[in-house]
Amino acid sequence: MSDIVKEGDIVLLYFDENRKFLVKVRSEGRLDSDKGYVMFSDVIGKPYGTFVETNLGFKAYILKPLLLDYIEKFRRITQIIYPKDLSFIVFISGISSGSIVVEAGTGSGVLTASLANFVKPNGKVYTYEIRKEFLEIAMRNVELAGLKDYVVFKNKDVREGIEERNVDAVFYDLPTPWELIDVAYEALKPTGSLVVFIPTVEQLSKTIAKLREHKGFVSIKAFDTMVRQYKTVPGEVRPNTWAIVHTGYIVYARKILKH
Ligand SMILES: C[S@@+](CC[C@H](N)C(=O)[O-])C[C@H]1O[C@@H](n2cnc3c(N)ncnc32)[C@H](O)[C@@H]1O
Repeated sequence: MSDIVKEGDIVLLYFDENRKFLVKVRSEGRLDSDKGYVMFSDVIGKPYGTFVETNLGFKAYILKPLLLDYIEKFRRITQIIYPKDLSFIVFISGISSGSIVVEAGTGSGVLTASLANFVKPNGKVYTYEIRKEFLEIAMRNVELAGLKDYVVFKNKDVREGIEERNVDAVFYDLPTPWELIDVAYEALKPTGSLVVFIPTVEQLSKTIAKLREHKGFVSIKAFDTMVRQYKTVPGEVRPNTWAIVHTGYIVYARKILKH
């Protein structure tokens, strides 16, 4: 992406935190908002970081979209993993550009896109989803974020096994991960990471118990994350009144070879 907006670029037109529009700019198009409209022909040819004015004189800044901007626009057909957990999940897994990873289930594709963003351009995400209709929506979401080339979508029940071998990390976000510890073990390379996201304490206890019983994993850990956003208005800098308190638990373990 050059620093000048070109015909066909996807740009974020930013008025304020409540008015952020992800648009593909075509010279004949325009964006309508409660602050007036912006002609895309005015946006094309402008440097990123500058602004355009609506017909009512309001400023819309021209930003390059980040992964988070795309994720906010994803169609959500399942519970998703939130950024506070996504960032932690990706970091503890140890994956990086070139990693080969497996995920189940795909859901809305939020974790899929996040993983793809980190393993690109030479890595791959193999993602398993039991429901075809969900997989199709996730594919469209991941495509919107420009990450489809780094993902292999599989309409499969992961309980039947993971086809890939020697993978760097396995990620689960589905109802009964404790039944799938062996499946992850078979797929992982020695020292590879297993990361499980689960919403309840009951699921957490079962998953940890199964991992300990298995004897094929060390460094078994559990976390939850809390992020507080602050108001940044001068004279009112303090935590926001409302926050997301509970999303889920994150379980981490590393594969060892059984003797
Ligand atoms: C909570 S959603 C995953 C959300 C996803 N992590 C995201 O961030 O968008 C759980 C998904 O797992 C899928 N699922 C449940 N059991 C499965 C199985 N045995 N094999 C594959 N997918 C499964 C469900 O259909 C559902 O789409």
